[in-house]
Amino acid sequence: MVNTPSLETITALAKRRGFVYQGSEIYGGFVGVYDYGPYGVELINNIKEAWWRAMVREEDNIVGLDSAIVTQPKVWEASGHVGGFSDPLVECKECHTRSRADHLIEGAGAFADEKMSVEEINAVFDGVREKVSCPQCGKKNFSVVRQFNLLVQSNLGNFSEDWTKEPTYLRGETCQGIYINFKNVMDTTRVRVPFGIAQIGKAFRNEIAPRQYIFRKREFEQMEMQMFTRPEAMMEVYEEWRTKRMQYYLNLGFKKENLQWHQHENLVFYAKAAWDIEYRFSFGFKELEGIHARSDYDLSQHAKFSGADLSYTDPVTSEKYTPHVVETSVGVDRTFLAVLTEFYAEDELGGELRTVLRFPYRLAPIKVAVFPLLKNKPELVAKAREVYNALKGDIRAEFDDNGNIGKRYRRQDEIGTPYCITVDFDTLTDGTVTVRERDSGEQKRVAISALKEVVGK
Ligand code: GAP
Repeated sequence: MVNTPSLETITALAKRRGFVYQGSEIYGGFVGVYDYGPYGVELINNIKEAWWRAMVREEDNIVGLDSAIVTQPKVWEASGHVGGFSDPLVECKECHTRSRADHLIEGAGAFADEKMSVEEINAVFDGVREKVSCPQCGKKNFSVVRQFNLLVQSNLGNFSEDWTKEPTYLRGETCQGIYINFKNVMDTTRVRVPFGIAQIGKAFRNEIAPRQYIFRKREFEQMEMQMFTRPEAMMEVYEEWRTKRMQYYLNLGFKKENLQWHQHENLVFYAKAAWDIEYRFSFGFKELEGIHARSDYDLSQHAKFSGADLSYTDPVTSEKYTPHVVETSVGVDRTFLAVLTEFYAEDELGGELRTVLRFPYRLAPIKVAVFPLLKNKPELVAKAREVYNALKGDIRAEFDDNGNIGKRYRRQDEIGTPYCITVDFDTLTDGTVTVRERDSGEQKRVAISALKEVVGK
């Protein structure tokens, strides 16, 4: 039986142990925005490192990029975001709460998605109006559905009084930065089609109803890779990446039964295929990552709007074409929530109930904690500090002399630290310490000289 922890359980642990804080909390919060605390940022860095390793370091033909968050505004006209990047919004006429019409429709047992026209979605909404209540006040008095553009505007570089007439935009997805640098990367490196460009970075969307904690945020982070292929090879490359991306999560330690495929049937006109990898969150199976076959739409659009030549000439055959694109796109924050959910456990150890994050070693924010057995024995504290100082440069380590040993173990279990080292009186005479393993609770004596090997993986 699958035992998924509730969102409240995860949220409470993440707050209590310094993983995630509500954004601007001391000012009462700021909807759709969160801050990552000391252990959160370590976990985020490890998630990004795992993705970068799989996508860039272990691949021969993928290179990295870090493009700007703000671009020339024309980028978002070319991409179609200014004209069509919207979600269907409906307003409660009683309390003025705005909701996603497609989500309300889904909750009423019918189907709608953000790709439908406003007429189509109004027709579906009218069909279920009677069954839908406002999530805030419970009344059933809604406006018509209208499309709401999700791009976040900015006045960067615009000093006119009404800058909203010609705004710049915070990027709504990171991949547009990849398309507009396609030529730069081709001209300055030795890549040849098929090749990919990978990028991790912030994206912004004016989500109508950010919800489910860090699942749907207004400021979030994406890890995207665009693979540029020969037109006729796109679907083969697409299938390769579908296999690789699912395997990636299994390699990270996710259970197979917590992952599933979802195929999009309602495709935008230029897309040839779109599948999501869904994860079993506490609120059901939901999109974690999207894998899309996008044809040459993006490069062709940017070529048209910018005037740049974004074609590729095969160096062997001299064949000239616009590459087609396979995209893999996953949110850092969604991965973070999936990781917390997947590795959260409650078990009994030594007759005591405990909460433990069974993170794989590579994801654990802290790899090893070092304790002196007693805080009030200077010789133990000094020796423990010496052990800690010797490890901390190579292995992410933490020194802890607060509370009794039991409490320290519980704290480290709750942040998912794989190993705890205790320095005791024997250490002073025989140079060994106790190493306790997180999941089994097993303890063994290890020579200080062998510690890096044992706790460094
Ligand atoms: N370039 C394609 C693209 O952006 P998407 O399905 O809109 O496609 C890709 O987003 C991924 O980004 C999603 O699978 C999800 O993991 C993440 N994502 C999208 N919107 C998000 C939001 N509001 N908050 C957190 N993550 C989000």
